[in-house]
Amino acid sequence: MTDTLEQHFDATIEHDRRIEPRDWMPDAYRNTMIRQIAQHAHSEIIGMQPEGTWITRAPSLRRKAILLAKVQDEAGHGMYLYSAAETLGADRTDLTERLIAGRQKYSSIFNYPTLTYADVGVIGWLVDGAAICNQVPLCRSSYGPYARAMVRICKEESFHQRQGYELLLTMAAGTDAQRAMVQDATNRFWWPSLMMFGPPDDASPNTERSMAWGIKRHTNDELRQRFVDMTVPQAEKLGVTLPDPDLRWNPERGRYDFGTIDWDELTAVIKGNGPCNAQRVERRRQAHEEGAWVREAAAAHARKAALGADGDRVHGGGAGS
Ligand SMILES: [Fe+2]
Ligand SMILES: [Fe+2]
Repeated sequence: MTDTLEQHFDATIEHDRRIEPRDWMPDAYRNTMIRQIAQHAHSEIIGMQPEGTWITRAPSLRRKAILLAKVQDEAGHGMYLYSAAETLGADRTDLTERLIAGRQKYSSIFNYPTLTYADVGVIGWLVDGAAICNQVPLCRSSYGPYARAMVRICKEESFHQRQGYELLLTMAAGTDAQRAMVQDATNRFWWPSLMMFGPPDDASPNTERSMAWGIKRHTNDELRQRFVDMTVPQAEKLGVTLPDPDLRWNPERGRYDFGTIDWDELTAVIKGNGPCNAQRVERRRQAHEEGAWVREAAAAHARKAALGADGDRVHGGGAGS
């Protein structure tokens, strides 16, 4: 029996068709998918913090409205992704608890502080830009619900990238002090953005299997290179220097060469020793506890609604909606 199911799974992957929630799948595939989607969902939710902190200090009503919309989009991304993880049998509360207990990871980039408003622009430009490079290929993930969620998420990420770049263009056309803020934020976020693509290929043991399963479409180093090539001309247009003396065009490769990433820093941040790890997780724990009453109320409402029209007149009472 399992043989036939496994053959069907292999054939689906081989023909580049999608695996759907009710299909049989190997346990390792299911667990890898849950881990990947959960980490992605956690990153969206934790990623609200570094920018969210600037909402009350936005320099104008226009900037506040844009930032609010952006941070709200990230919450939406988290929600789609937790739903996608649930189609694999994961439990949302359990995933959140794992995050808070430090047993599941989120993107290392969100463990860096946001020191000025230029950081909001640089996060849109570089962090959302790197996220797009990582995520566009995931629209073709072999797992159907994840692939479909990624289509919408990528459209919104591309709006995020543009709003960040537009903010930076505005600041770059401003005062010397504003230009200095843009340069400083770029200096701080450039290397951590390159780290978002993960360890180098020769230190990424699961890449091969993930590629075979259609979970991953390009290696970490390929995507990182693509990001560098895309970003350098944007930096030139902006008039900022990328903080890498080894960065230069390589005419033979037709791509940019760049310096060596500080992998020890990435390892330290992943292990929990980045500048803001403790603060981010603590804030998430607090929000989870403070939101308990909302979840309880929503669950009680859902239970009542499930009783139906001849249950207790939920729909006619008005109090429940
Ligand atoms: Fe997002
Ligand atoms: Fe985003």
